[in-house]
Amino acid sequence: MNNKKCDTSFSSFNSGDRVLLKIRDLEKTFQNPASGESLTILKHLDFDVPEQTKIAILGHSGCGKSTLLHIIASLDHPTSGTIFFEETPLHLKDEDALSQFRRENIGMIFQFHYLLKDFTALENIFLPAYMAGEKKKDAMEKAQSLLVDVGLEKRASHLPSQLSGGERQRVAVARSLINNPKLILADEPTGNLDPENAELISQLLFDMVDQYKKSLVLVTHDMGMSEYCDRVYTIKNARLETL
Ligand SMILES: Nc1ncnc2c1ncn2[C@@H]1O[C@H](COP(=O)(O)OP(=O)(O)O)[C@@H](O)[C@H]1O
Ligand SMILES: [Mg+2]
Repeated sequence: MNNKKCDTSFSSFNSGDRVLLKIRDLEKTFQNPASGESLTILKHLDFDVPEQTKIAILGHSGCGKSTLLHIIASLDHPTSGTIFFEETPLHLKDEDALSQFRRENIGMIFQFHYLLKDFTALENIFLPAYMAGEKKKDAMEKAQSLLVDVGLEKRASHLPSQLSGGERQRVAVARSLINNPKLILADEPTGNLDPENAELISQLLFDMVDQYKKSLVLVTHDMGMSEYCDRVYTIKNARLETL
């Protein structure tokens, strides 16, 4: 538990920080499935994620937080605007290239763990690396090491149904790191946990992000969690605002 709450008067964004993700003038419009009316969820959105920076996004339900994370993960597309990940223009890539990009650069954690129910904790962490083409032995070594990092070495052979909610999220945190992505996206990762487990998972996530020198974009309702981040935003009236 080495993570310290940040002094909100101080921003760790220095002009020299290397920017990992750069979004410019992004807009996302959905069609209302019933009426066909268009609904603009995000507009004129500029957003930078520097390397090794933790960013929180707050906002009421339905304001567009998950939509923004899905667009960053290239699971969804913007209606207009540009997204650069380092030098790569994601808005110009095709689906195959985006899948590969996601595998190599993005780790995701959701409110629900989405672990594969027929695979053990260790196998759930191992599989994304193995499927990305890593040798079985190397992928297994990495998975074992991450399992130890998240304190679950004694739960290696447990199926998800044999783990507590907090333990499942620990596995999800470890799995998000297995392919050594530069950016972790977390969508309300503690939203399904009791307060005690929520605090444990938050600290674990922040500690792992720091230890492995990752950037984090975290969507949360938990103001306490956002206090550990370097910068906090909210989405209001389809605009991203600094808090
Ligand atoms: N595929 C879709 N088609 C139409 N509207 C959608 C779609 N996905 C999300 N929305 C709408 O976009 C808004 C933002 O959704 P979401 O990003 O999930 O919000 P949040 O994560 O902040 O709760 C909501 O009003 C939702 O109904
Ligand atoms: Mg959401």
